[in-house]
Amino acid sequence: MATAQADTGIRVTPSGDTLGADISGVDLSRMDDALFGEIRRAWLDHLVLRFRGQTLDDDALADFSRRIGDLDMAPTGRTGRPFQPERPEIAVISNIVVDGKPVGSLGAGEAEWHTDMSYNDVPPDASVLYGIEVPEGAGHTWFCNMYAAFEALPADMRARLETLTCKHDATRNSTGELRAGFDEHYTPENLPGAVHPLVRTHPETGRKALFLGRRRNAYVMGVPVAESDRLLDELWAHAIKPEFCWVQHWRVGDVVMWDNRCTLHRREPFDPALRRRMHRTQIKGSRPY
Ligand code: SIN
Repeated sequence: MATAQADTGIRVTPSGDTLGADISGVDLSRMDDALFGEIRRAWLDHLVLRFRGQTLDDDALADFSRRIGDLDMAPTGRTGRPFQPERPEIAVISNIVVDGKPVGSLGAGEAEWHTDMSYNDVPPDASVLYGIEVPEGAGHTWFCNMYAAFEALPADMRARLETLTCKHDATRNSTGELRAGFDEHYTPENLPGAVHPLVRTHPETGRKALFLGRRRNAYVMGVPVAESDRLLDELWAHAIKPEFCWVQHWRVGDVVMWDNRCTLHRREPFDPALRRRMHRTQIKGSRPY
């Protein structure tokens, strides 16, 4: 396990997989420009960073996240309203129910592989997820490296994908729940959502990555539906192979920061009797190209 120590005193310990690194020697509530510069460099190199043992309130989580860029509003669930109306930029992800009302979204079921909010024309660059209550040994989050998945494809497939765009379904979240304002009845052609290139160039690193969003209802534009489904099934089977993945086993106080431009993630289902509560920010991005 190689550990690099920067001038600022932070240590970067790569996971040993194709993405992911632990950052230690940092209190995220006390940040300066030099320290954040080291964090940003490590993030671009490792795609997903984990900071253990943090204590953050929503202000501190938002302040740290604003170092990455302006904040996006959190996605709203079935009700169309944020879970914390006074903090609409903080997404609450939880299976906890108080007085019959869920305090957050995504419940305890599987959150299928996805990249955050790619059904928008301008999806967030980054997300920061803070573990406040986490069930022991359950509810792990998987991450997958979309540079590595793209680079491992044969050259003719890479060239073909660079000519294609894909529609990202806006109607359902990663647990399959219908979002507010949408109904069940769409065809791939009239499905609401954003159209993005299947291969995107990372604006900071210049590297190319597969940009798949999520599988459910995705549609490769301009080809027959059966051909789109065949191609997407092949790409998904390739992209989420274990050799491209790293798994986050949560502890209370973990903060995980990921790059939505070159990763996918999924959350494992867990026993609904266990409690899990996370707060997440999402950092505004730019239109994928
Ligand atoms: C998410 O999809 O952003 C949430 C992941 C998680 O709950 O671990």
